[in-house]
Parts: sequence; structure tokens; C-alpha cells
Amino acid sequence: MIEIMMKNIEACKSSLTEAVKGFQSFKTFFLAATTDFQNVASVAPSSRHLARAMLQGLSLNEARTVVELGAGTGAITRVLLENLPPKATLLAFEINPEFISYMQKRFSDPRLVLLNARAENLGYELRRLGHKRIDAVVSSLSLRFMPDDRQRILHDVLAPFMDEKSVYTQYQYIHGLRFENGKFLRHSSLPFLREYFASIQCQTIWRNLPPAQVFTCRNRFRSRRALEVHTTGKRHNSNSLAGEQA
Ligand SMILES: C[S@@+](CC[C@H](N)C(=O)[O-])C[C@H]1O[C@@H](n2cnc3c(N)ncnc32)[C@H](O)[C@@H]1O
Repeated sequence: MIEIMMKNIEACKSSLTEAVKGFQSFKTFFLAATTDFQNVASVAPSSRHLARAMLQGLSLNEARTVVELGAGTGAITRVLLENLPPKATLLAFEINPEFISYMQKRFSDPRLVLLNARAENLGYELRRLGHKRIDAVVSSLSLRFMPDDRQRILHDVLAPFMDEKSVYTQYQYIHGLRFENGKFLRHSSLPFLREYFASIQCQTIWRNLPPAQVFTCRNRFRSRRALEVHTTGKRHNSNSLAGEQA
């Protein structure tokens, strides 16, 4: 009897701890969103359902180097660390100092390298840390608020580190709305991602605030020439593209 009571108390304690952690993460996130919505781009951290969906298409058990773009308060980082093998490294990029200090206090996993750096500086950071290849990129960056030229810079800096086995996942909120010059504009990241990846799978996650679409992208076009051939349709046949990607 006492044993059962002790077990119940332990279970209650751990649920309470989880709830407090969840509340702190939400509070930190919400406050950051009120001061910098352009970059934070959401009012709440991702749900566990979204985090799991972002990792679904990745072979994490064999991964060595994984990059997370826009770690926030670590909603996806936590699930990544639960799934990565002991020898893997997770390089997490985040620009918000509040989020960096939040994560520094809560994550002590030696596999995690927390970088207070822009995702666009990824090339410099990876070379500095001696990483030549990325197995997976998990991006929460809000492409809807990112001008095209910055998105292109980001995808160009990724190119030298990705090969035919590397996978890139990205989510966007299902409403796809952006407020600009007094108007709501709709945005979809899909056409942009199609310029860079030959294969994209999409799934909708309703259990998130707000619901989101996850894009799992493979077979990156590695050179600008391949990209041009793909987007302009010039010399558009599968053989030439396959050659360019090699
Ligand atoms: C929508 S939030 C996602 C946070 C977290 N991954 C989650 O799913 O709850 C986007 C995050 O990207 C960060 N961010 C925005 N632009 C960035 C950039 N250029 N480089 C690195 N992080 C950036 C923001 O500070 C924010 O934490």
C-alpha cells in the first residue's frame, strides 16, 4: 500500500515538474515574442507532436552531425537529444540572448553545442568546429519573415555540407500569414524549398499552437548551375540534373 502511494507521489512530482518547466518555457517564449516577433515568429514553443514530426524522416541513430536552426527554448532540441546516438553532435543556432541563457541553464548534454550565432553564419561556425558534413538540418526559422535574399544565403551556405543522404526539415504554420504594410499576406515556403530539393514530403500537425506543416526535404541540388537548370527549365532532363548533384 505504502509502495503504491510512494509511486503515485513520485508520478505527481514528475508531472508537476514537467508542468512547471512547460510554463517557464512558454513564459520565456511569449515574452520574447512580444519584443521581437519578426524573429521569434510565434507565441508558443513547438509542441512535442510537432517536434516528433520534424524528426520523423531523419535517420538519427546513425547521425554524426545534426544542425538545428532557431533552437528557441529547446522544444525540438530536447527531442533531438533523446534520439541522437552518444557520439553525435548537435549544433544549435539561436540569435535571441534570452533563449540562449534559458537553454544554458537547462541543457547540460555534452552532445549539444549551443551557438549564439545567426544561421547564415553556419559555414564559418561549422568549419571552425571541424565539421565537414551534415546528416540533418532541423529548421524552425520563420521563412515567411525572411527576405528571399537571406533565405538564399542560408541555403547557399548549407550546400557544401550537404550530400545526397542529408535531410533538411522545416516547418511553417498552416495559416501562412504575414502582416505587412497594413495587409495580411499569405506565404508558403514550399515553392522556395522546391528550388533546392528534388524530393519534399509534407505532413500537417494539428496538435500544435498554431497547427503546422512539416516539410521533409531530400536530394538537394548542390550547385547553382543545377538549381538554374531546374528553375529555368533549360536543359531540363533528369540525367543532367543527376550529374550536377553529384
Ligand atoms: C518559431 S521559433 C522556433 C523555436 C523552437 N525551435 C521551437 O520550435 O519552439 C524561431 C526561432 O528562430 C530564432 N531565429 C530567428 N532568426 C534566426 C537566425 N537568423 N539565426 C538563428 N536563429 C534565428 C528565433 O530567435 C526563434 O527562437
